[in-house]
Amino acid sequence: MISLNSIKDAKFIRQGEDIGTVRPVFKKVIWLDKKVNKATLCCSALGYYEAYLNNQRVGKFVFAPGWTSYGVRIQYQEYDVTNMLEECNTLDIALGNGRRYHGNPHEHYESITDRDDALIASLFIEYADGTTDFYPTDESWKCAKSNILESSVYNGETVDYNANTDEEFAVKTLDDISTDILVPTEGEEVREMARLDAIALITTPKGEKVIDFGQNLTGYVEWVVPAVKGKEFKLYHAEILDKDGNFYTENLRGAKNEIKVISDGNEHVYKPHFTYEGFRYIRLEGFDDDEIDLDNFKALVVFSNMKRTGYFACGNDLVQQLYENIVWGQRGNFLDIPTDCNQRDERLGWTGDAQAFARTASINYRTLKFFKKWMKDVAADQRPNGAVTDIVPDIHNWESEGSSAWADAAVIVPYWVYRTYGDTEIIKNQFESMKKWILFMESKGSVRGLFDMHDHHFGDWLSLDAGDEATGGFTDNDLIGSAYLAYSNSLFIEMGKAIGEDMSYFEELYELSVKEYRKKYLNTGLKEHETQTANVLAIYFNLTDDIQREGAKLVKDIEECGHLKTGFVGTPYLLHALTKIGRADLAYKLLLKKDFPSWLFPVTRGATTMWERWDGMKVDGSFATPEMNSFNHYAYGSVGDWLYTTVAGIDSDAAEPGYKHIIFRPLPIKELGYAKARILTENGEIISSWEYTGNGNECEFSFTIPNGSHATLYLDNEEYEFNSGTYNTVFEYEGF
Ligand code: BGC
Repeated sequence: MISLNSIKDAKFIRQGEDIGTVRPVFKKVIWLDKKVNKATLCCSALGYYEAYLNNQRVGKFVFAPGWTSYGVRIQYQEYDVTNMLEECNTLDIALGNGRRYHGNPHEHYESITDRDDALIASLFIEYADGTTDFYPTDESWKCAKSNILESSVYNGETVDYNANTDEEFAVKTLDDISTDILVPTEGEEVREMARLDAIALITTPKGEKVIDFGQNLTGYVEWVVPAVKGKEFKLYHAEILDKDGNFYTENLRGAKNEIKVISDGNEHVYKPHFTYEGFRYIRLEGFDDDEIDLDNFKALVVFSNMKRTGYFACGNDLVQQLYENIVWGQRGNFLDIPTDCNQRDERLGWTGDAQAFARTASINYRTLKFFKKWMKDVAADQRPNGAVTDIVPDIHNWESEGSSAWADAAVIVPYWVYRTYGDTEIIKNQFESMKKWILFMESKGSVRGLFDMHDHHFGDWLSLDAGDEATGGFTDNDLIGSAYLAYSNSLFIEMGKAIGEDMSYFEELYELSVKEYRKKYLNTGLKEHETQTANVLAIYFNLTDDIQREGAKLVKDIEECGHLKTGFVGTPYLLHALTKIGRADLAYKLLLKKDFPSWLFPVTRGATTMWERWDGMKVDGSFATPEMNSFNHYAYGSVGDWLYTTVAGIDSDAAEPGYKHIIFRPLPIKELGYAKARILTENGEIISSWEYTGNGNECEFSFTIPNGSHATLYLDNEEYEFNSGTYNTVFEYEGF
């Protein structure tokens, strides 16, 4: 006899009648008359679900079942509900449309769907007497309307507490959807991770009633709905106020981010179910003054439940705030998948942004599970020809894919997971995908070794060297492509060797890439080959045979214009490249520069997250184009890894990944006073700190090396070896 006990034995169900935009609740009543040993509820959906057993929320996963390449794989969750059971049990599971099973948020984020929402679930009960019961979703379940009249990730939610939710009707099963598509949960659950108080009620010059939570964040507001029967209350969300102090939402583009609740005369504590917003401010509509009490509004911060592993502190308030903004950028955009932004009508898994930030992200938080899951979707969506899609999950389905530096996420993200945690499973999981991407690049070269015959590139996105509102930057796209072929391939070779693969084919390709790159792109005299980003790549990716020559060009350009110009491609490596050529002093100058354009400029303007653009807010207080102006975009937060590796000086060694061999190379600077970083690695805690004691050049250093790790300290051109333990020393160190 085959026993049925898996969610794969259940059927996808859907409401049996058309209920318009109202969100359905699927119901099952289960009577128990025996002692239960264990009860397990499994759920998944095409859409988002929220399960309640006996009116209690099951689990803490927000926006379950998570976002994967839905056409290929959908996660299901397993909850131990043993302690929630009673004699008579009501199981209610609400279904939101979430990220539609398929759907294109750019164009019609409400209407396009080629697959209706559906729920699948099963309750498996093991009794003390050894018998079992199994309740899968099927025709025996019932459906009712919820009080959620409308719900959309981008547009918000409408709830009417007066709605009739009692009437039950039939469900239908969707027999054409195979349960083979279901996979166990691989990522970290998205959860409500923090709760922030409102800090101020503002009446703007336009007369708007606005609440400030003091922090740009991702999540939603939990609030007490005033008890006035039939009255409609609305909340709108914004990241920023404009220069006159008014509520600014133009940069949200098509996303409405509107919460509408109609009171039934009773007091309710409401929070949205299937939508989230990126905001610091909310604007209230429909509230009388005496209905606004700041204590009744809390911002719930929602992101993937990753373990915090990296901490950085220093004696400069602006740099410290920059660091906090970087961490908030990750909190705001690591929601099951790494997203570009959290507020406008995108919130998509843009690969370029993820690869730029992957190293920093993996130090801040333990991203092992998070990225392992997402990387499987990178592979799942990869085109048969090896092109990696620009966004993952790939709901664009664009004709051309494989932009350099975006598609390279296929290699760069697994590399930083491997390097940070020493994990080789991700290499094994991704090996074929990485290989296909390298071979794709190889196939698009004017000669073997270059990637210069492909026409879909985003370029050095949002760099400052192609004019004001330009997006693609001035650096030659073919140069960027060829540089990334060499770089990604070098990481691929390193990873392949770590799992014992024969990488000789790729080693030969790498040699050729470097040779051809030098021939085609170095010293050509062409301006598009001499940008800051071009020189940064040549230095950081080891493409030049004369690092000081490219270094001198980079320094000259920075000194001549007095600032950085790099975009998404060059920025992650800019300070590393300057350090590599022995100009950490200039790197510090760029880091500490306060006026536009710089990392600290947004901080001086009150930013609490990373801006998408250097000129998100201009010097005169006006905004850059609302078409592309998010105030929570983590790509430029990639400077975070320089704070850890170079300011505080904790780096991992490629030869012994997972910080088994730690490289301490702190670069103290008096202007910061002190710096300290703490990284919780797989072996334990690493600490590095330095502090100027106030006596001239006297600088106190201390290091902690966990058990199982050893370290090399580079200080003042000397090298020292250490085993695990804690060490303190005082040095004369002039700094920069
Ligand atoms: C996103 C970016 C992304 C880009 C592609 C934008 O709309 O917000 O962060 O990488 O498109 O260049």
